Amino acid sequence: MNVEIEQIVKPLIKWFQKEKRDLPWRKTNDSYQIWISEIMLQQTRVEAVKEYYKRFLKVVPTLQDLAAIEEDQLLKLWEGLGYYSRARNLQKCAKYLVLQGKKELPRDYEELKKLPGIGPYAAASIGSIAYQLKTPAIDGNVLRVMTRIYEDDRDIMNKKVRDDYFFKLSKIMPENTRDFTESLMELGALICLPNGNPLCDSCPLSFLCKSFKNKTMLNYPVKKKLEKRKIEEKTILILEYHDKIAIQKRPNKGLLASLYEFYSLEEKYSINQLKKYLKQIKIDYVNIELLKETKHIFSHLEWHMVGYYIHCTSVPENSFIWVTKEELETKYSLPTAISIYANNIKK
Ligand code: ADE
Repeated sequence: MNVEIEQIVKPLIKWFQKEKRDLPWRKTNDSYQIWISEIMLQQTRVEAVKEYYKRFLKVVPTLQDLAAIEEDQLLKLWEGLGYYSRARNLQKCAKYLVLQGKKELPRDYEELKKLPGIGPYAAASIGSIAYQLKTPAIDGNVLRVMTRIYEDDRDIMNKKVRDDYFFKLSKIMPENTRDFTESLMELGALICLPNGNPLCDSCPLSFLCKSFKNKTMLNYPVKKKLEKRKIEEKTILILEYHDKIAIQKRPNKGLLASLYEFYSLEEKYSINQLKKYLKQIKIDYVNIELLKETKHIFSHLEWHMVGYYIHCTSVPENSFIWVTKEELETKYSLPTAISIYANNIKK
């Protein structure tokens, strides 16, 4: 059976128009708003994005506002979404465009791809959703749909596979580029599900899907195993002194750049090791509480952490940024990995 891929267009769009979810970014044609949604949706679930998206646009409604917002406030709006370089790149991009006197994102795929934080996927999704460009967005959902249709056993991490589907789908893209892009994503999200349970009986494309015919859906997509994540152990210290909490700003490059964190040490310290260390750095205290052990998993790295709450009676001068508990909640953004420990702070 050869796949005549142009046959997917009509049934797919018909299905989408009937079944699509009511999502906030589907109510707008504004390229700024669509851009924000696409960046938030990278690496983050639709359900988690909805509220962030609405709040973000209330506080930062235009490209000009995004260019002008304080970085700390921007990161606060992003707090909890993870992958903070997305937020910083949004602003870099806005500043660049505003500086050039532009009122909106460029209406050209190649120009879009040159902008900070906009790779081939985001350029294609923004282009086809906001600007009627015939640029199909190839994300993990779409690759799952396509490799199942074709029984394609190439490694989907290989760029050539993505380029190949980009080319194939751009050839059959209808005038309604927005619905086409969104319908493929939606089919991957609602029907052509990963991990063992695709709902093929409800799929508008099963009539030409090779893997449905041969009952091989679960063999696709083929994805080479990622490298094992590195494990880093840490000790998180919540230092409280005169009702204030010690924080420090992370370096402006690298993991979780420019976010705030509690004082932390490499390796997991036992209480006795910690007492010795506090003596060395001249911190006196009345009491130390052991907090629970937690793990945080990043894409390439795991933090395995233990925490201590330390009620200090003297601290070295100029050692940290001391903030009130209220400021910590409202003004400073802590990465999710560490904010779990903030729940231990008593008001
Ligand atoms: N994932 C990425 N972009 C999306 C969109 N526009 N709608 C739903 N899920 C998405």
